[in-house]
Amino acid sequence: MDQFLKEVLDDLSRTPKTLNSKYFYDEKGDKLFQEIMGCPEYYPTNCEMEIFMEHTKDLALTLKNGFNTFDLIELGAGDATKSSFLLKELMDMKVDFTYMPIDISSSMISHLEETLPQKIEGLKVQGLNGEYFEMLEKANTISDRKKVVLMLGGNIGNETPENATAFCRKIRSSLQQGDLVMIGFDLKKNPHVILAAYNDASGFTRDFNLNLLHRINAELNGNFDTRQFEHYASYDPANGACKSYLISRVSQDVTISGQTFHFEENEFIYMEISQKYSVRETEEMAGVSGFKTVKHFYDHKRWFVDTVWACV
Ligand code: AVI
Repeated sequence: MDQFLKEVLDDLSRTPKTLNSKYFYDEKGDKLFQEIMGCPEYYPTNCEMEIFMEHTKDLALTLKNGFNTFDLIELGAGDATKSSFLLKELMDMKVDFTYMPIDISSSMISHLEETLPQKIEGLKVQGLNGEYFEMLEKANTISDRKKVVLMLGGNIGNETPENATAFCRKIRSSLQQGDLVMIGFDLKKNPHVILAAYNDASGFTRDFNLNLLHRINAELNGNFDTRQFEHYASYDPANGACKSYLISRVSQDVTISGQTFHFEENEFIYMEISQKYSVRETEEMAGVSGFKTVKHFYDHKRWFVDTVWACV
């Protein structure tokens, strides 16, 4: 059975029902995420962009860390908008490095391999199309140079803290002592600011969540009536968990590939976590997963941190 179908059927058979936010990103989902990033309420993208634009030299020097040559690996590179500032700076510093973007989208990887060397003269790009850990292993077989791994955008927040820690441990096991990673964490802040970012007035976040139901209808022969589900975002300042749910407006049945699921009125589907951290919590995560914190880079509001860790 197709992996997507299997996960959806399993996740909707659970109590409480859930869906995996990694499936948000089909073509429509990618577009909606772009819209979210352009919303006035959604601050993380601008905060991290500010870090890359305002601290470019310092970032480049910290990541270069005295290495003469290294591989700069980016997990989930997307269109590499932010990292381009860093790549350009490293080229200007005449650093010998290869940029290795890892992405699940093969078209994104081809696009980067083609366009980046045009934009940044002399840049060496070796795209790796596939799952993060398989591609990290592949990067190790391609070259034995020092590794610097970037994971930007606050993507780590889309895992629970336990899973995020396990993920960091796994990254550590693919690296050698002295290698570096830089991870973007969205930080705890005023709860109203966080909640608004996941409940934008234009409704893009609502549509982003509902799009997964549309996707299930289109790809898995489902019959969700999306008008009968309501987006609900929550943020708990006590634990930093920002969670999105879809609430069934009525008692209803939904069939997916021949399997029927019953929803009570007001029953929820847990869609996504966007975990927020304190700086101390990022440092603790570094410690328990085999790293030590080297440096924090903040935007001027201190709403977001790109934190650099070294493998110990
Ligand atoms: C991709 N990720 C970091 C986004 C976030 O902020 O958790 C996804 C997102 N979900 C709703 N808005 C944005």
